[in-house]
Amino acid sequence: MKKFLSLFLITSCLAYANPYAKCIGCHGTNGEKAALNGKSIIIKNMTKAELKSAMLGYKDGSYGGSMKALMQAQSKPLSEADIDTIAEQIGK
Ligand code: HEC
Repeated sequence: MKKFLSLFLITSCLAYANPYAKCIGCHGTNGEKAALNGKSIIIKNMTKAELKSAMLGYKDGSYGGSMKALMQAQSKPLSEADIDTIAEQIGK
């Protein structure tokens, strides 16, 4: 039980330290995949500024395509600092 709990804590700390962690399944480890069979562009090809403004746009509803609602749900819990971290990490 104790072991399980510490594993859980470590995992949540990692998730906290890396706000991109929950994006990997769809966009790939380094943003190299077009999410859901080509529904998104390849986000590692976006500049840091483009990536940031897309994420802020999903948050306030001013950006998006046919699957905008999905990314709105992804972006809502992120702070602007999280978005900066992601843009620095993935954007070119
Ligand atoms: C369930 C799969 C899924 C997850 C998880 C996901 N995305 Fe997306 N993402 C998509 C899809 C699909 C689109 C295209 C949405 C649209 O039509 O606007 C997209 C679009 C984007 C775009 C804009 C690219 C474009 O096509 O204009 C960015 C930037 C982005 N995602 C970043 C992220 C980040 C950062 C996270 C994690 C916080 C994340 N995504 C999590 C599926 C996902």
